[in-house]
Amino acid sequence: MINKEIKILIGKIVGDLYQNIKIPNFVLEWPKQKDFGDYACNVAMVLAKELKKSPMEVANEITEKIKAEKVNEEMFKNIVVANPGFINFEISEKYLTENLEHILKRKCKFGSSEIGKRKIVVIDYSAPNIAKPMHVGHLRSTIIGQALYNIYSFLGYKVIGDNHIGDWGTQFGKLIYAYKNWGDKKKISKSPIEEMTKLYIKFHKESESNKDLEEFARQETKRLQDKDSENIKLWKFLVKESLKDYNKIYKTLNVKFDLVLGESAYDNMLAGIVNGAMDKKIASKSEGAVVINLDKYNLTPFLIQKTDGAFLYMTTDIATAKYREEKLKANKILYVVANEQALHFQKLFASLELLGMGEKIKKEHVKFGMVLGENGKKFSTRKGDTIYLVDLIHRATEFAQKAVEDKNPKLSRSEKKKIAKTVGLGAIKYNDLSQNRLTDITFDWDKMLSFEGNSAPYLQYTYARINSLVNKFKNLHKLDRINPFDKNDFDLLKEKEEINLMRHLIKFPEAVEIAANENCPHLIALYIYDLASLYNTFYNSLSVVKAEKSVAKVRIEMSKSVAIVLKNGLNLLGIDVLDKM
Ligand code: ARG
Repeated sequence: MINKEIKILIGKIVGDLYQNIKIPNFVLEWPKQKDFGDYACNVAMVLAKELKKSPMEVANEITEKIKAEKVNEEMFKNIVVANPGFINFEISEKYLTENLEHILKRKCKFGSSEIGKRKIVVIDYSAPNIAKPMHVGHLRSTIIGQALYNIYSFLGYKVIGDNHIGDWGTQFGKLIYAYKNWGDKKKISKSPIEEMTKLYIKFHKESESNKDLEEFARQETKRLQDKDSENIKLWKFLVKESLKDYNKIYKTLNVKFDLVLGESAYDNMLAGIVNGAMDKKIASKSEGAVVINLDKYNLTPFLIQKTDGAFLYMTTDIATAKYREEKLKANKILYVVANEQALHFQKLFASLELLGMGEKIKKEHVKFGMVLGENGKKFSTRKGDTIYLVDLIHRATEFAQKAVEDKNPKLSRSEKKKIAKTVGLGAIKYNDLSQNRLTDITFDWDKMLSFEGNSAPYLQYTYARINSLVNKFKNLHKLDRINPFDKNDFDLLKEKEEINLMRHLIKFPEAVEIAANENCPHLIALYIYDLASLYNTFYNSLSVVKAEKSVAKVRIEMSKSVAIVLKNGLNLLGIDVLDKM
């Protein structure tokens, strides 16, 4: 990767020039404006104080030394010093065109690497609560989690996707009671979550007039926890049926897990966790309950066992982390969970540190904001704040279907259907992944499904257009295939629009790596959106197919490399491309 090569070069030059100082941490970044080259480095500004020189002076010294040594000479077209002491690097055309060859050769592997080799990342995502509909928070977690899964795998990590479903706890008492009294096995098997929701609602309604129900439900929970065989059987049935519904959504979204280890999987570890924490004097009894004191972290105590002896969500999370560290041998754990649980994870990480389970592995709460409707209020498709994902996906496909009818009425029905599905799902995913996950995102159907602007259809359409250009070129020149590129052909790429595209193409591998470092898939979205925009500028200003044949050929080759990168980027976000739209 070019950025790494440049960093190494700068380090070496600085070391040679200023022998008595330690090479400081410095940044090499992509300047916002293309006029400032491809990379801007702040090393001179970082060094100036220590060297008692002005940043400009240091920048000049470094630049001259790089030029004088003629190292990596072929890599740069220009190295320029800019106020107040930046060194800006512009990559040479030779490098840029070599990169095109590289893309055309590596294809779907372009951008991938081995930096994660032998490292294990556990990603905790989706995690709906059994018997309840997945809400929009779970949708975001599912989509962001799967994107991170793809990104880390692309970088050579061994990724373990774990769906930490909420399949244990007091809610089951109510459900079991309701099922025993009013349940219908057939109905549940037919539409599990819907029926279970009805049972809940009935339970709550009935308990308004019958105060005993709450107590009955508690007894059912107790029986379940004591492993009463009837209740265990019922519980297994409810979990299995709920998963049937969730799996439909996962299948539609093309989401996969390596493990589905719900909260119940850790039940037998919980007493040990609490006792262990007490023995280590990390936890103590407080008014009958057991808590971990987190004063040291300026946090309120972490409750791990209630006065009635029951364990909690938090206790389970401690056990889960232990399991992932010891059994799964994780080097890193990512928890893709809504912002609302930020405090929970702060306390969890602090507690794990106290318990001596924090040092070795990195843990990060990959948090995200809410989804707002067009009116700026919390999003919902029906009354209540749960959204029914099935509806949402259905709606997106319907909208997309209309868009396809408008755009391309001549396609066959099955083609239209396939396109509508790919575009609709792409729109939902891209809407989520193209916005910074930390902010609340909006659901604006017009924007999401527009063929212009920062949307999935725009990117998918750019891809499809390149595909049709390639075909046009082949037809025009009666070619079955385009002969492999010839290095020298690429010298024909000289126009500003072409150079700008190539300058962007070379950065894709870096974009992927940064997205992983920050666990921010939107950085890939941003990258491919810029790529598509640069491509469309190129396409609108220069003729491609109709240009003189040798020029047309390299432009087609370049277009193909744009398509490869678009596809790789979209696939990392879990979005499919279409050859035709
Ligand atoms: N089931 C939880 C919820 O819906 C999310 C679980 C997230 N993962 C975890 N390890 N706590 O809120």
